[in-house]
Amino acid sequence: MQIPSRVTALRKRAVESNFPFSSEDSTGELLAVLAASVRPGGRICELGTGLGVGLGWIVAGLAPRSDVSVVTIESDCHRSTLAQEADWPGWVRFVTGDATVELPKLGRFDLIFADAEGGKWYGLDLTLAALNLGAMLVLDDLVPQDWKSDIEKQAHRQKMDDIRRHVHAKPDLVVTELNYATGILLAVRRGSPPDA
Ligand SMILES: C[S@@+](CC[C@H](N)C(=O)[O-])C[C@H]1O[C@@H](n2cnc3c(N)ncnc32)[C@H](O)[C@@H]1O
Repeated sequence: MQIPSRVTALRKRAVESNFPFSSEDSTGELLAVLAASVRPGGRICELGTGLGVGLGWIVAGLAPRSDVSVVTIESDCHRSTLAQEADWPGWVRFVTGDATVELPKLGRFDLIFADAEGGKWYGLDLTLAALNLGAMLVLDDLVPQDWKSDIEKQAHRQKMDDIRRHVHAKPDLVVTELNYATGILLAVRRGSPPDA
């Protein structure tokens, strides 16, 4: 998939702002594909807006639809403000706050990209509870990045192993892991999606 111009602009902004944690393009492409498959009238949630790169991919995947809404939650006010400065469709909503506090107020979703510590490294059950029947959860960064120290990598692997075990043990989830991008876990909540 061609890199969307919005993503290029957001990534440039992230580099200028010394924010190195944006999703890479391969993850973004996957998000775009999954967003495009969301049921009519569906809802998407991203935990951890960062500077909006992953969100840019989600929005690109949804084009030209306007029946799906997207909520993105970011705890860092400065990052949230910077991300909101870009030109977004009206069906994108920004929430500034801790994902583990805000997510339970927002109802259920058909696709959740959990890319923040809150709702992924801790509070994962809140995220699982926010999945509609038939909804998909995306977790990335199963594999630690090269720039981490050996000690950090070991801690990262241990934490991810805990998360993976936790998700795989849920009987109401169908789960797979992809050796793709930074290592991706996909889980779908068993059941028929709600009607539009
Ligand atoms: C990996 S970055 C997000 C990158 C972005 N999703 C993307 O695709 O480009 C993680 C972000 O989560 C935010 N964050 C960390 N803990 C959070 C929490 N408890 N609630 C909401 N956001 C959080 C961080 O401030 C950071 O901006």
